[in-house]
Amino acid sequence: MKSLKVFMLIGDPVEGSLSPVMMNAAFRALKLNHAYVAVRVREKLLGDAIAGARRMGIAGLNVTIPHKIAVMSFLDALDESAALAGAVNTIKNSRGRLVGFNTDGEGALWNLEEKAGRVKGKRVLLLGAGGAARAIAFSLVKAGAELTIANRTVSRAEELASLIEQKLGKKLEVMSTDRAELKRALAGVEILINATSVGMRPRENETLVTAEMMHKNLVVYDIVYKPLRTRLLREAEKAGAVTIDGLGMLVRQGALAFEIWTGKRAPIKVMEAAARGEVGKVVG
Ligand SMILES: NC(=O)c1ccc[n+]([C@@H]2O[C@H](COP(=O)([O-])OP(=O)(O)OC[C@H]3O[C@@H](n4cnc5c(N)ncnc54)[C@H](OP(=O)(O)O)[C@@H]3O)[C@@H](O)[C@H]2O)c1
Repeated sequence: MKSLKVFMLIGDPVEGSLSPVMMNAAFRALKLNHAYVAVRVREKLLGDAIAGARRMGIAGLNVTIPHKIAVMSFLDALDESAALAGAVNTIKNSRGRLVGFNTDGEGALWNLEEKAGRVKGKRVLLLGAGGAARAIAFSLVKAGAELTIANRTVSRAEELASLIEQKLGKKLEVMSTDRAELKRALAGVEILINATSVGMRPRENETLVTAEMMHKNLVVYDIVYKPLRTRLLREAEKAGAVTIDGLGMLVRQGALAFEIWTGKRAPIKVMEAAARGEVGKVVG
């Protein structure tokens, strides 16, 4: 049997993460002698943790809040996905060389297109300009969506739009998250994506968009998965819109990390079942 390869999630907190259950199920399904553990790493110890991972020959890592940006300075190279998104969620150890990737954007796009068809030419309103929104915005524009970015801090949406224009040559509209403005914009949009943390536990009763601002042909995708059925998705159901929860993205960003590490096709159904089975227990 080949020697054990160890993979790791680093973040703070990591309690309640679905990734260990999901990744270990995938390793078992492909009979790989691999193990995945979640380790809490304090912000000030991130450099030591990465040096330790190098010394111990950790085969790959996932990176979550609050380390996705800071970790970039400890790596040897960045894949284009991470360089564009300006954040890393996956690291591959290639014979001691640590390379950073970002699978959030492609994971979200994969999930969205599976559920709602190709985004090419579709008008999409993206709420947020933080780490996840940034990765998703690049993937959507690359896939040909007609994107508008709305963010509470409009200057951050403007910064993201100008970065996209610079890197991909596409000019985007930006706006605030003012309710009246959002309502007007939503009338002409086919897909709404929430990539803000609004609606996330413990503030699970909050939403930027309510039912009367939506129309029934809208697809509403909330990447927040704590809880799974967010207030935004409940509002969308009231409006008769199609809803997509955040678990599909979580599974697919993990599946893409699995493929980067192993070079094998991820057993997506096994991963989805493991994550959905665990979700009731830990994030409900
Ligand atoms: N499903 C998945 O696989 C997946 C993957 C990654 C992230 N996520 C989820 O996505 C969410 C965002 O994560 P992130 O890493 O992008 O966080 P982040 O970088 O901290 O960005 C937070 C975003 O939310 C906005 N925001 C926060 N509070 C707000 C409020 N009260 N009103 C309006 N806007 C508000 C921020 O606006 P400002 O710029 O104005 O502060 C910013 O756009 C989290 O809930 C995370 O769990 C899910």
